[in-house]
Amino acid sequence: MKVLIATQKPFAAAAVRGITEILEAAGHQPVLLEKYAAQDDLVAAVADADALIVRSDKVTPEVIAAAPRLKIVVRAGAGFDNVDLPAASARGIVVMNTPGQNSNAVAELAIAMMIFMARTQFTPATGSEVAGKTIGIQAFGNVGRLVGAKAKALGMKVKAIDPFLQKEQIEAGGAEPASSLEELYATSDYLSIHIPATPQTIGSIGYDLISSMPKGATLVNTARKEVIDEAGLEKALEARPDLKYVTDVMPDNYAALQEKFGLRVFATPKKMGAQTAEANLNAGLAAARQIVDYFATGNTRFQVNR
Ligand code: 3PG
Repeated sequence: MKVLIATQKPFAAAAVRGITEILEAAGHQPVLLEKYAAQDDLVAAVADADALIVRSDKVTPEVIAAAPRLKIVVRAGAGFDNVDLPAASARGIVVMNTPGQNSNAVAELAIAMMIFMARTQFTPATGSEVAGKTIGIQAFGNVGRLVGAKAKALGMKVKAIDPFLQKEQIEAGGAEPASSLEELYATSDYLSIHIPATPQTIGSIGYDLISSMPKGATLVNTARKEVIDEAGLEKALEARPDLKYVTDVMPDNYAALQEKFGLRVFATPKKMGAQTAEANLNAGLAAARQIVDYFATGNTRFQVNR
């Protein structure tokens, strides 16, 4: 089978080697499309692909329509909001992710971003320490739990909420369950977001939640920019000159935010949470193995469009 590995943001070289080896050992033909300039390049490249490995690359209805042989798409990573599931399902294409494989990289970045802001973006201005402060974790999945464990090791109090977990499960993960999202925001010096972008969560974090945070609080977003109501964020930062926002997913209004709020906001130029050699290897090799296994045995364990 022909397996297209389409990554606008390429995997580390060792991961590409590993993916290639796994696919070739099972008799498949990997084809690499890296750093492509336009979506049309992806549309052209999928023409004869039986399987597709992507990162945040956009698998649109147009991509799917251009791939008559496509049977499986594996998103090497956690969030699959970049894959049009209805279009894939309508064609009977299996879509999978590789949950947990890049979580530690994202969790480390969330902690790094928190400290970067606590220390005023590494400028000589007086900063603050995170020990003794409270971190609130919105969604206690693979990344959220790791952020909690690392924050605890830094001497922080860890609170969390997750609509899919019971209080006991949050406690078992080492955090104090918050009674509501409102309570979590109102009591967290640092609030780390780990929700996916879904119709329910898009634009769900806005003025009311952000402006309810305690004095000097920082919102840390290593999830998706779409979950933030950007106008609401701007309004909250205006109303509360003590609040800060740091994100791995550059907001559309970043230029305006930077101009208005200076060191109180920071965004990475390109999403880098999962961009470590280790995470690339973990997620990339998992994606390759899942494709090999699917063609060999029909295993759909990580399918997200059932
Ligand atoms: C994910 O959902 O797994 C992360 O956001 C990583 O995305 P990336 O593969 O584009 O870096």
